Amino acid sequence: MTQPQNPTLATTLFAVLLLIHSSLSLKEGETCVADRNCDTGLHCETCVANGNVRPRCTRIQPINPTSKVKGLAFNRYTWLTTHNSFALLGQKSKTGSVILSPTNQQDTITSQLNNGVRGLMLDMYDFQNDVWLCHSFGGQCYNYTAFQPAINVLKEIQVFLDSNPSEIVTIFIEDYVTSPKGLTKVFDAAGLRKFWFPVSRMPKNGGNWPTVDDMIKKNQRLLVFTSKSSKEASEGIAYEWRYLVENQYGNGGMKAGSCPNRAESPSMNTTSRSLVLVNFFRDIPDVTKSCKDNSAPLLSMVNTCYEAAGKRWPNFIAVDFYKRSDGEGAPEAVDVANGHVVCGCENVASCKANMTFGACQQPEAGATPPSATERVSSFGIRNFKPVDLVWSFGTIAFGTMLVAL
Ligand SMILES: *[C@@H]1O[C@H](CO)[C@@H](O)[C@H](O)[C@H]1NC(C)=O
Ligand SMILES: *[C@@H]1O[C@H](CO)[C@@H](O)[C@H](O)[C@H]1NC(C)=O
Ligand SMILES: *[C@@H]1O[C@H](CO)[C@@H](O)[C@H](O)[C@H]1NC(C)=O
Repeated sequence: MTQPQNPTLATTLFAVLLLIHSSLSLKEGETCVADRNCDTGLHCETCVANGNVRPRCTRIQPINPTSKVKGLAFNRYTWLTTHNSFALLGQKSKTGSVILSPTNQQDTITSQLNNGVRGLMLDMYDFQNDVWLCHSFGGQCYNYTAFQPAINVLKEIQVFLDSNPSEIVTIFIEDYVTSPKGLTKVFDAAGLRKFWFPVSRMPKNGGNWPTVDDMIKKNQRLLVFTSKSSKEASEGIAYEWRYLVENQYGNGGMKAGSCPNRAESPSMNTTSRSLVLVNFFRDIPDVTKSCKDNSAPLLSMVNTCYEAAGKRWPNFIAVDFYKRSDGEGAPEAVDVANGHVVCGCENVASCKANMTFGACQQPEAGATPPSATERVSSFGIRNFKPVDLVWSFGTIAFGTMLVAL
């Protein structure tokens, strides 16, 4: 009769330890068991591809740059962007079929938006007398490559814009829709027309965009770009590469030290396009390797593309599995770019309202960015607390108990 009692006791002890520990809100880099153990803006994950087998709290949210410096032109900010935002890991097709095409993200559009994602890449197809989000070949959508009707996701965006009156969202459509006014109909049906930023207000020759304040005041908080040039005239949907330069996507865009433009885009240094987008994801999405891709190699590519784009920092940084990294990931890359464009510092964390551009605090004046350990210790992450030791012991004890069971 003593056998069942011990595990019960151990489980209770473990639960108590978990309760004590989770109430502490673990900081970035600290060992965790579940997402809820981590502070807001963090989640609990390993990065085995980089040798981090211990689950740790890692960043999933960038700093909102407009919370630091308001009122700049839209092209003076950088936004976290998800590639194939709709292609969620483990999702079934709304046709009822299993999905046989690759997946690129882990959470819903609503969750992405709540984490600070502001650029969404959506592939749209005619399918079942409607417009669907699909991942396909030859411009044709099939049950086993169709995720869901586009209106579902567009309605999530509508709800977000409605409840967040000072946020701006950009949609990049990989456009296979040929049905007459197909896109217009689905955007209207989703209630997104009232947020539409008109093409007529987009700078045509490399000028500044309106300020975010102005866009918010006029409620023109949705930017939509299509890959089909004819739709600018026929439906008032901006043709992406008339306003934006973009580097090569897929493996061709991941070669360290080079940042060529994608075929449809003018060369990266074309300054008649005011916006710059950096893609950094594989031909075939890889959830395990993405944590490594989204870390140092991403930051390095952002710097490479800055040079290639004529010393312009990206306005959009697009990745797969945006939540995965070995610590700071895509949110950090966005913070670094924002630091440079918003206030001339190495990181947007150092920007202050009304500061002189480039007048940053030490040690930022030196050109070297703070090392990982400096950043970690500056957040007090390595300050070992006695409870951590208890926690470690508790984790080991629980692990041992599980093995024993
Ligand atoms: C595709 O899914 C629809 C339901 O959305 C179903 O009616 C149709 O039979 C399916 N087609 C095939 C080829 O399985
Ligand atoms: C712009 O980039 C292209 C390569 O994409 C290069 O050939 C050209 O010389 C660059 N122009 C300037 C002015 O740097
Ligand atoms: C920045 O300047 C604006 C306009 O002069 C002013 O309203 C605001 O209070 C200032 N903010 C800070 C933090 O000093």
